[in-house]
Amino acid sequence: MTLAQYLEQQQAFVDAALDRLVPPETQSPETIHKAMRYSLFAGGKRIRPILCMEACRTVAGEKPGMEDAACALELIHTYSLIHDDLPALDNDDLRRGRPTNHKVFGEAMAILAGDALLTFAFEVLARLPDVGPDVRAALVAELAGASGTVEGMIAGQVRDIEGEGAEPTEARLESIHRAKTGALLRASVRMGAIYGGSKLSELDALTRYGEHIGLAFQIVDDVLDVEQPSEKLGKTAGKDAAQKKITFPAVYGIARSREMAQEQLQWAHAALDRFGPSAARLRELADLIVRRNA
Ligand code: IPE
Ligand code: IPE
Ligand code: MG
Ligand code: MG
Ligand code: MG
Repeated sequence: MTLAQYLEQQQAFVDAALDRLVPPETQSPETIHKAMRYSLFAGGKRIRPILCMEACRTVAGEKPGMEDAACALELIHTYSLIHDDLPALDNDDLRRGRPTNHKVFGEAMAILAGDALLTFAFEVLARLPDVGPDVRAALVAELAGASGTVEGMIAGQVRDIEGEGAEPTEARLESIHRAKTGALLRASVRMGAIYGGSKLSELDALTRYGEHIGLAFQIVDDVLDVEQPSEKLGKTAGKDAAQKKITFPAVYGIARSREMAQEQLQWAHAALDRFGPSAARLRELADLIVRRNA
Protein backbone atom coordinates (compact mmCIF):
# COMPACT_ATOMS: atom_id res chain seq x y z
CA MET A 1 0.00 0.00 0.00
CA THR A 2 1.37 3.45 -0.88
CA LEU A 3 1.66 6.11 1.82
CA ALA A 4 -1.21 8.07 0.24
CA GLN A 5 -3.48 5.01 0.29
CA TYR A 6 -2.44 4.21 3.85
CA LEU A 7 -3.23 7.77 5.02
CA GLU A 8 -6.62 7.73 3.32
CA GLN A 9 -7.45 4.38 4.91
CA GLN A 10 -6.30 5.51 8.37
CA GLN A 11 -8.21 8.80 8.13
CA ALA A 12 -11.37 6.90 7.21
CA PHE A 13 -10.77 4.56 10.15
CA VAL A 14 -10.46 7.54 12.56
CA ASP A 15 -13.48 9.30 11.05
CA ALA A 16 -15.65 6.21 11.43
CA ALA A 17 -14.62 5.80 15.08
CA LEU A 18 -15.26 9.47 15.84
CA ASP A 19 -18.66 9.27 14.17
CA ARG A 20 -19.54 6.24 16.27
CA LEU A 21 -18.33 7.81 19.54
CA VAL A 22 -19.59 11.40 19.32
CA PRO A 23 -23.31 11.98 19.99
CA PRO A 24 -25.32 12.55 16.77
CA GLU A 25 -26.54 15.98 15.69
CA THR A 26 -30.06 14.89 16.56
CA GLN A 27 -29.12 14.42 20.23
CA SER A 28 -30.52 17.19 22.44
CA PRO A 29 -29.29 19.89 22.80
CA GLU A 30 -28.74 19.70 19.05
CA THR A 31 -26.73 22.93 18.71
CA ILE A 32 -23.79 21.72 20.76
CA HIS A 33 -23.55 18.41 18.93
CA LYS A 34 -23.76 20.23 15.60
CA ALA A 35 -20.98 22.59 16.71
CA MET A 36 -18.75 19.72 17.92
CA ARG A 37 -19.25 17.76 14.71
CA TYR A 38 -18.81 20.83 12.49
CA SER A 39 -15.19 21.22 13.58
CA LEU A 40 -14.44 17.53 14.05
CA PHE A 41 -15.50 16.57 10.53
CA ALA A 42 -14.01 19.52 8.68
CA GLY A 43 -11.18 17.50 7.16
CA GLY A 44 -8.23 17.57 9.57
CA LYS A 45 -5.16 15.51 8.71
CA ARG A 46 -5.74 13.21 11.74
CA ILE A 47 -2.00 13.06 12.28
CA ARG A 48 -2.24 12.59 16.07
CA PRO A 49 -4.61 9.59 16.08
CA ILE A 50 -2.70 8.02 13.19
CA LEU A 51 0.58 8.37 15.12
CA CYS A 52 -1.10 6.81 18.15
CA MET A 53 -2.36 3.78 16.25
CA GLU A 54 0.94 3.35 14.43
CA ALA A 55 2.97 3.48 17.66
CA CYS A 56 0.68 0.77 19.01
CA ARG A 57 1.23 -1.34 15.87
CA THR A 58 4.98 -0.86 16.14
CA VAL A 59 5.17 -2.39 19.62
CA ALA A 60 2.19 -4.76 19.61
CA GLY A 61 0.65 -5.10 16.17
CA GLU A 62 -3.05 -4.45 15.56
CA LYS A 63 -4.91 -4.12 18.89
CA PRO A 64 -8.72 -4.06 19.12
CA GLY A 65 -10.13 -0.71 20.23
CA MET A 66 -6.92 1.26 19.71
CA GLU A 67 -8.77 3.65 17.39
CA ASP A 68 -10.98 4.77 20.29
CA ALA A 69 -7.94 5.74 22.35
CA ALA A 70 -6.57 7.51 19.27
CA CYS A 71 -9.83 9.47 18.90
CA ALA A 72 -9.33 11.01 22.35
CA LEU A 73 -6.30 12.83 20.91
CA GLU A 74 -8.30 14.21 17.99
CA LEU A 75 -11.05 15.37 20.38
CA ILE A 76 -8.50 17.31 22.45
CA HIS A 77 -6.74 18.65 19.37
CA THR A 78 -10.00 19.88 17.82
CA TYR A 79 -11.02 21.55 21.08
CA SER A 80 -7.62 23.30 21.16
CA LEU A 81 -8.15 24.56 17.59
CA ILE A 82 -11.65 25.91 18.30
CA HIS A 83 -10.36 27.80 21.33
CA ASP A 84 -7.13 28.88 19.55
CA ASP A 85 -9.29 30.58 16.90
CA LEU A 86 -11.50 32.50 19.35
CA PRO A 87 -11.39 36.31 19.23
CA ALA A 88 -9.67 36.37 22.64
CA LEU A 89 -6.85 34.14 21.37
CA ASP A 90 -5.75 34.18 17.70
CA ASN A 91 -9.01 35.65 16.40
CA ASP A 92 -9.15 33.56 13.23
CA ASP A 93 -11.94 33.34 10.66
CA LEU A 94 -10.80 30.26 8.74
CA ARG A 95 -10.03 26.73 9.92
CA ARG A 96 -9.79 23.49 8.01
CA GLY A 97 -11.02 25.38 4.96
CA ARG A 98 -14.22 26.56 6.63
CA PRO A 99 -15.36 29.53 8.70
CA THR A 100 -14.19 29.02 12.29
CA ASN A 101 -16.56 27.53 14.85
CA HIS A 102 -17.39 30.85 16.54
CA LYS A 103 -18.11 32.46 13.16
CA VAL A 104 -20.82 29.87 12.54
CA PHE A 105 -22.16 29.06 16.01
CA GLY A 106 -21.24 32.20 17.95
CA GLU A 107 -18.65 32.62 20.67
CA ALA A 108 -20.66 31.10 23.50
CA MET A 109 -21.33 27.89 21.59
CA ALA A 110 -17.72 27.67 20.34
CA ILE A 111 -16.41 27.90 23.90
CA LEU A 112 -18.87 25.23 24.98
CA ALA A 113 -18.08 23.00 21.98
CA GLY A 114 -14.40 23.14 22.97
CA ASP A 115 -15.28 22.37 26.59
CA ALA A 116 -17.46 19.48 25.46
CA LEU A 117 -14.80 17.91 23.22
CA LEU A 118 -12.26 18.24 26.03
CA THR A 119 -14.49 16.55 28.57
CA PHE A 120 -15.64 13.88 26.15
CA ALA A 121 -12.05 12.87 25.35
CA PHE A 122 -11.61 11.67 28.92
CA GLU A 123 -14.96 9.90 28.96
CA VAL A 124 -13.85 7.94 25.89
CA LEU A 125 -10.61 6.91 27.61
CA ALA A 126 -12.31 6.04 30.89
CA ARG A 127 -14.74 3.77 29.04
CA LEU A 128 -12.27 1.99 26.71
CA PRO A 129 -13.73 -1.51 26.45
CA ASP A 130 -10.69 -3.54 25.42
CA VAL A 131 -8.03 -2.64 28.00
CA GLY A 132 -7.85 -2.91 31.78
CA PRO A 133 -8.31 -0.12 34.34
CA ASP A 134 -4.55 0.35 34.76
CA VAL A 135 -4.09 1.11 31.05
CA ARG A 136 -7.17 3.37 31.02
CA ALA A 137 -5.80 5.35 33.98
CA ALA A 138 -2.35 5.64 32.39
CA LEU A 139 -3.89 6.97 29.16
CA VAL A 140 -6.01 9.51 31.07
CA ALA A 141 -2.95 10.73 32.98
CA GLU A 142 -0.88 10.95 29.79
CA LEU A 143 -3.47 12.96 27.86
CA ALA A 144 -4.33 15.24 30.78
CA GLY A 145 -0.67 16.02 31.39
CA ALA A 146 0.01 16.74 27.72
CA SER A 147 -3.00 19.06 27.54
CA GLY A 148 -2.22 20.84 30.80
CA THR A 149 -0.36 23.74 32.32
CA VAL A 150 2.96 22.09 33.25
CA GLU A 151 4.77 21.87 29.90
CA GLY A 152 1.51 20.81 28.25
CA MET A 153 -0.56 22.41 25.49
CA ILE A 154 -2.11 25.09 27.72
CA ALA A 155 1.33 26.06 29.00
CA GLY A 156 2.38 26.59 25.39
CA GLN A 157 -0.73 28.57 24.53
CA VAL A 158 -0.14 30.83 27.55
CA ARG A 159 3.48 31.47 26.52
CA ASP A 160 2.36 32.00 22.91
CA ILE A 161 -0.21 34.63 23.93
CA GLU A 162 2.09 36.32 26.46
CA GLY A 163 4.88 36.28 23.88
CA GLU A 164 2.94 38.38 21.35
CA GLY A 165 5.03 41.46 20.69
CA ALA A 166 7.80 40.30 23.07
CA GLU A 167 11.37 39.92 21.91
CA PRO A 168 11.59 36.62 19.98
CA THR A 169 14.41 34.82 21.79
CA GLU A 170 15.57 31.26 21.18
CA ALA A 171 14.73 30.22 24.73
CA ARG A 172 11.18 31.61 24.55
CA LEU A 173 10.61 30.01 21.17
CA GLU A 174 11.61 26.51 22.17
CA SER A 175 9.61 26.61 25.39
CA ILE A 176 6.48 27.71 23.49
CA HIS A 177 6.74 25.07 20.76
CA ARG A 178 7.67 22.10 22.92
CA ALA A 179 4.57 22.69 24.99
CA LYS A 180 1.86 24.03 22.70
CA THR A 181 2.29 21.44 19.93
CA GLY A 182 5.08 19.11 20.99
CA ALA A 183 3.37 17.83 24.13
CA LEU A 184 0.31 16.47 22.33
CA LEU A 185 2.34 14.87 19.53
CA ARG A 186 4.63 13.25 22.10
CA ALA A 187 1.55 12.00 23.96
CA SER A 188 0.08 10.64 20.72
CA VAL A 189 2.99 8.27 20.28
CA ARG A 190 3.24 7.44 23.98
CA MET A 191 -0.48 6.65 24.25
CA GLY A 192 -0.20 4.20 21.37
CA ALA A 193 2.75 2.52 23.06
CA ILE A 194 0.94 2.41 26.41
CA TYR A 195 -2.18 0.98 24.74
CA GLY A 196 0.01 -1.70 23.16
CA GLY A 197 1.61 -2.56 26.51
CA SER A 198 5.13 -1.60 25.39
CA LYS A 199 8.30 -2.27 27.34
CA LEU A 200 9.79 0.74 29.12
CA SER A 201 12.76 0.86 26.74
CA GLU A 202 10.39 0.93 23.75
CA LEU A 203 8.34 3.68 25.38
CA ASP A 204 11.53 5.72 25.93
CA ALA A 205 12.57 5.37 22.30
CA LEU A 206 9.10 6.29 21.04
CA THR A 207 8.99 9.25 23.43
CA ARG A 208 12.19 10.61 21.88
CA TYR A 209 10.70 10.09 18.42
CA GLY A 210 7.56 11.93 19.53
CA GLU A 211 9.53 14.87 20.92
CA HIS A 212 11.49 15.33 17.71
CA ILE A 213 8.50 15.10 15.39
CA GLY A 214 6.58 17.39 17.77
CA LEU A 215 9.13 20.16 17.44
CA ALA A 216 9.50 19.56 13.70
CA PHE A 217 5.72 19.78 13.32
CA GLN A 218 5.47 23.29 14.78
CA ILE A 219 8.59 24.52 12.95
CA VAL A 220 6.92 23.47 9.70
CA ASP A 221 3.57 25.00 10.80
CA ASP A 222 5.38 28.33 11.33
CA VAL A 223 7.17 28.11 7.97
CA LEU A 224 3.94 27.27 6.14
CA ASP A 225 2.22 30.25 7.80
CA VAL A 226 4.78 32.42 5.97
CA GLU A 227 5.08 30.53 2.69
CA GLN A 228 1.68 29.10 1.76
CA PRO A 229 -1.54 30.88 0.78
CA SER A 230 -4.68 30.58 2.95
CA GLU A 231 -6.45 28.44 0.30
CA LYS A 232 -3.76 25.80 0.60
CA LEU A 233 -3.54 25.92 4.40
CA GLY A 234 -7.28 26.04 5.05
CA LYS A 235 -6.45 28.68 7.67
CA THR A 236 -5.40 32.32 7.50
CA ALA A 237 -1.85 32.67 6.17
CA GLY A 238 0.55 35.32 7.45
CA LYS A 239 -1.21 35.43 10.79
CA ASP A 240 1.88 34.91 12.94
CA ALA A 241 3.75 37.95 11.62
CA ALA A 242 0.58 40.06 11.78
CA GLN A 243 0.17 39.11 15.45
CA LYS A 244 3.89 39.40 16.24
CA LYS A 245 4.10 35.77 17.34
CA ILE A 246 7.36 34.21 18.43
CA THR A 247 7.96 31.71 15.63
CA PHE A 248 10.90 29.82 14.12
CA PRO A 249 10.99 32.05 11.02
CA ALA A 250 10.90 35.15 13.25
CA VAL A 251 13.92 33.98 15.23
CA TYR A 252 15.97 32.05 12.66
CA GLY A 253 14.59 32.97 9.23
CA ILE A 254 13.00 30.52 6.78
CA ALA A 255 16.11 28.75 5.49
CA ARG A 256 17.51 27.97 8.94
CA SER A 257 14.04 26.95 10.20
CA ARG A 258 13.79 24.39 7.40
CA GLU A 259 17.24 23.06 8.27
CA MET A 260 16.24 22.75 11.89
CA ALA A 261 13.14 20.79 10.96
CA GLN A 262 15.41 18.44 8.97
CA GLU A 263 17.69 18.05 12.00
CA GLN A 264 14.71 17.09 14.15
CA LEU A 265 13.71 14.60 11.47
CA GLN A 266 17.13 12.94 11.58
CA TRP A 267 16.87 12.63 15.37
CA ALA A 268 13.37 11.19 15.05
CA HIS A 269 14.68 8.53 12.65
CA ALA A 270 17.58 7.75 14.96
CA ALA A 271 15.15 7.18 17.85
CA LEU A 272 13.45 4.44 15.80
CA ASP A 273 16.66 2.52 15.04
CA ARG A 274 15.89 -0.33 17.42
CA PHE A 275 12.55 -1.16 15.79
CA GLY A 276 13.38 -2.30 12.27
CA PRO A 277 10.53 -2.80 9.77
CA SER A 278 7.73 -2.55 12.38
CA ALA A 279 8.38 1.21 12.48
CA ALA A 280 8.36 1.74 8.70
CA ARG A 281 5.14 3.80 8.77
CA LEU A 282 6.35 5.88 11.73
CA ARG A 283 9.42 6.76 9.64
CA GLU A 284 7.20 7.76 6.72
CA LEU A 285 4.94 9.81 9.01
CA ALA A 286 7.98 11.73 10.31
CA ASP A 287 9.07 12.46 6.73
CA LEU A 288 5.55 13.57 5.89
CA ILE A 289 5.41 15.98 8.84
CA VAL A 290 8.50 17.76 7.53
CA ARG A 291 7.73 17.78 3.81
CA ARG A 292 3.98 18.54 3.99
CA ASN A 293 2.73 21.74 2.40
CA ALA A 294 -0.48 22.19 4.40
C1 IPE B 1 -2.65 22.72 13.54
O1 IPE B 1 -2.56 21.33 13.62
C2 IPE B 1 -2.36 23.35 14.85
C3 IPE B 1 -1.03 23.09 15.37
C4 IPE B 1 -0.85 22.48 16.49
C5 IPE B 1 0.14 23.57 14.65
P1 IPE B 1 -2.74 20.42 12.34
O2 IPE B 1 -1.87 20.95 11.24
O3 IPE B 1 -2.54 19.00 12.74
O4 IPE B 1 -4.26 20.68 11.94
P2 IPE B 1 -5.37 19.73 11.31
O5 IPE B 1 -5.80 18.81 12.38
O6 IPE B 1 -4.76 18.99 10.15
O7 IPE B 1 -6.45 20.68 10.89
C1 IPE C 1 -1.89 26.42 17.95
O1 IPE C 1 -0.78 26.95 17.32
C2 IPE C 1 -1.57 25.21 18.66
C3 IPE C 1 -2.74 24.78 19.47
C4 IPE C 1 -2.56 24.36 20.66
C5 IPE C 1 -4.08 24.84 18.93
P1 IPE C 1 -1.11 27.96 16.13
O2 IPE C 1 -1.89 29.11 16.60
O3 IPE C 1 0.17 28.20 15.39
O4 IPE C 1 -2.03 27.01 15.23
P2 IPE C 1 -2.71 27.47 13.88
O5 IPE C 1 -1.58 27.93 12.99
O6 IPE C 1 -3.71 28.53 14.21
O7 IPE C 1 -3.31 26.18 13.38
MG1 MG D 1 -2.25 30.10 18.39
MG1 MG E 1 -3.71 29.97 15.65
MG1 MG F 1 0.39 28.26 13.26
